[in-house]
Amino acid sequence: MDLKGLQNNWDTLGKADPFWAILSDPAKKGGKWETEEFFRSGRLAVKNLMEHAASLKKDLPHKKAFDFGCGAGRLTQALCEYFENCYGVDIAPSMIDLANKFNRFGYRCRYFVNETEDLRIFEDESFDFVITFLILQHMKPEFSKSYMREFLRVLSPGGLAVFQVPGELNPNLLITRLKKNPLTGGLINLMINAKKRFNKDIASKIDMYGVPKNEVLRLVEDNGGRILEVRENGWAGMEWVSFTYYVTK
Ligand SMILES: C[S@@+](CC[C@H](N)C(=O)[O-])C[C@H]1O[C@@H](n2cnc3c(N)ncnc32)[C@H](O)[C@@H]1O
Repeated sequence: MDLKGLQNNWDTLGKADPFWAILSDPAKKGGKWETEEFFRSGRLAVKNLMEHAASLKKDLPHKKAFDFGCGAGRLTQALCEYFENCYGVDIAPSMIDLANKFNRFGYRCRYFVNETEDLRIFEDESFDFVITFLILQHMKPEFSKSYMREFLRVLSPGGLAVFQVPGELNPNLLITRLKKNPLTGGLINLMINAKKRFNKDIASKIDMYGVPKNEVLRLVEDNGGRILEVRENGWAGMEWVSFTYYVTK
């Protein structure tokens, strides 16, 4: 899917059931997230993240933070408690409308729609902190790699970029073995695509992609970054091995 298709899907989700599209807890489908509870989950995630960031980078400056794929601003709002100015971008105008609606920090927090595969709206080395969670996994590697290069470009020296992206399909699952087998792989993909076509639920049409860990490590190095830590996580579901990269420059 190209960026236009991605934008259409997320914009529709942002109008229909935005909090659930962001945090897809089945019990919350159909507008069942309480606003306060939804934003509280962001505060908890950012608190844990900032504690870990402090242990990796004691001298991290706290002036400007950037949240890529900010959605309704769940994490961006929480970042405002740690940084003087925070910027969130999202591809879906409906998400940015919501983020502005729930902004509690006035001019200190600014949101933008960005529909290009780069971040040209921001200058080089303009952020001390860059984060992105649950975003890069939904786009083709050509796009996620372009954004990763951009994170390094906009990161200031001494700053910290934290981004999550799946690496590969979980080799221990039967479905992975079937997908990789030349005899069964074609049939499995055919069935998955047919299911997606007939399913009316847009969320289920959103694809998953990974970038192999060694490619990410090379990309970071080629773009002037230095890896501080790589953490495995289960954020991309059972089917994927997913990683969070902590990078400075
Ligand atoms: C699962 S939500 C995560 C929202 C937010 N990071 C959070 O954790 O609350 C994914 C968000 O990424 C946005 N998104 C997807 N592709 C994007 C892209 N190429 N550029 C910017 N935002 C994108 C979607 O519109 C959606 O709001």
